[in-house]
Amino acid sequence: MTANHNVDINRLNAFAEKMVHEKKTAVGFPCNQNIKLAEFYHWYAVSGLADVAMNNVGDPRKPSLFSLNTHEFENEVIDFFSPLYGFLPDEAWGIVTNGGTDGNNHGIYFGVHVLGSSSKIKPVLYVSQEAHYSIMRLSDLQGLEMRQIPANIRGEMDVQAFEQALDPGRPALIVIAVGTTFKGGIDNQDAIDEVLSRKRPVALYRHVDAALFGGYLPFTEHADLVSHTRRKYDSIAVSGHKFFGFDEPLGLFLTTNKVLATQNPFRVSYLNASVPTITCSRSALAPLKFWWQIHKTGVEGYRRQAELILKNAEYLKQRLDEISYPAWKNDISNTVYFQRPGDWVMKKWSLAPYEDERLGGKLAHDIVMRHEGMHMIDHFVDDLVLDRGGESETDGTPQTG
Ligand SMILES: Cc1ncc(COP(=O)(O)O)c(C=O)c1O
Repeated sequence: MTANHNVDINRLNAFAEKMVHEKKTAVGFPCNQNIKLAEFYHWYAVSGLADVAMNNVGDPRKPSLFSLNTHEFENEVIDFFSPLYGFLPDEAWGIVTNGGTDGNNHGIYFGVHVLGSSSKIKPVLYVSQEAHYSIMRLSDLQGLEMRQIPANIRGEMDVQAFEQALDPGRPALIVIAVGTTFKGGIDNQDAIDEVLSRKRPVALYRHVDAALFGGYLPFTEHADLVSHTRRKYDSIAVSGHKFFGFDEPLGLFLTTNKVLATQNPFRVSYLNASVPTITCSRSALAPLKFWWQIHKTGVEGYRRQAELILKNAEYLKQRLDEISYPAWKNDISNTVYFQRPGDWVMKKWSLAPYEDERLGGKLAHDIVMRHEGMHMIDHFVDDLVLDRGGESETDGTPQTG
């Protein structure tokens, strides 16, 4: 590296060392720390691209006046995923987003326009109380009336309460949670659909927030939970840095060309194009990394990873049951939630707090991602035992699995 007196490399190295060390016990947030991008970054630097300002501004499916983009790779990422989410060939439109919230933003914004194209009445947004806070924020941003529906003890929308809240005289924008943030609850789409087909709201748009579970479900026998063909949803948002594992936030947003056609085209003369995306500049690097990962991993690889995290989540739940630690895990979920341990455990394992009086009050959760193997789980359980005043069974520091 060339000498640069303005860059304190020692400080940077110390910071990097700390991050690499801390990732070994980061189990409370849904970030897959098993990232394999060193080879990609090496190629990126030697190829010269690290010194090129690329930008994916515009609709990736349309020719762009700004040619320094990775639209061709972005389209291939979307083409890889759209059949996995049950879209028919040529039916899907999508982008690589800057995360789950960006995907939800597009879903809710597109939904408002779809509903507006068939009714002048302002829509109501329905969402479960345990859905991610981004939905509340984005509903606020759109100036929508939001009806928050209570959730059952597993974190799934209470469908009876939904039926009571539903106003069929107004367009309905329903956000379905496939994997709630804290408990990993999956809203019952069949039951919600049954209510909708009976009550028949004047207009309907369904957006699926599948930030974490949407990553692995297509690679399991439960793929139909996120299938557009099967569930008839209008759009879906998935985070990339959660199940798939990237070094920075990114994600997927998928919808149909039919939904896209109802959007305000906002012709932008300096781009000689209509731009359907909310943000103008978009990352060109993110689609390239996703494309790289798809080619390195493949469907079989993702299938094995999905199997592994679900198996390890079962193992964690089983270990907690063995020590009679109050803990819960929903079906098809990699999230185990349990009685909140002491502060030192919370801090050491980066655990996130939550409260639910129905489950005894203070809770925390462990989201089993790829870097949390059985060995690491044993260390974690050991700390819970120590926290309760018991004796540890393992020694040494945990290693990522
Ligand atoms: C269910 C759910 N939706 C949306 C989000 C937001 O995703 P992102 O952090 O990728 O913006 C999260 C984040 O944890 C989430 O759990």
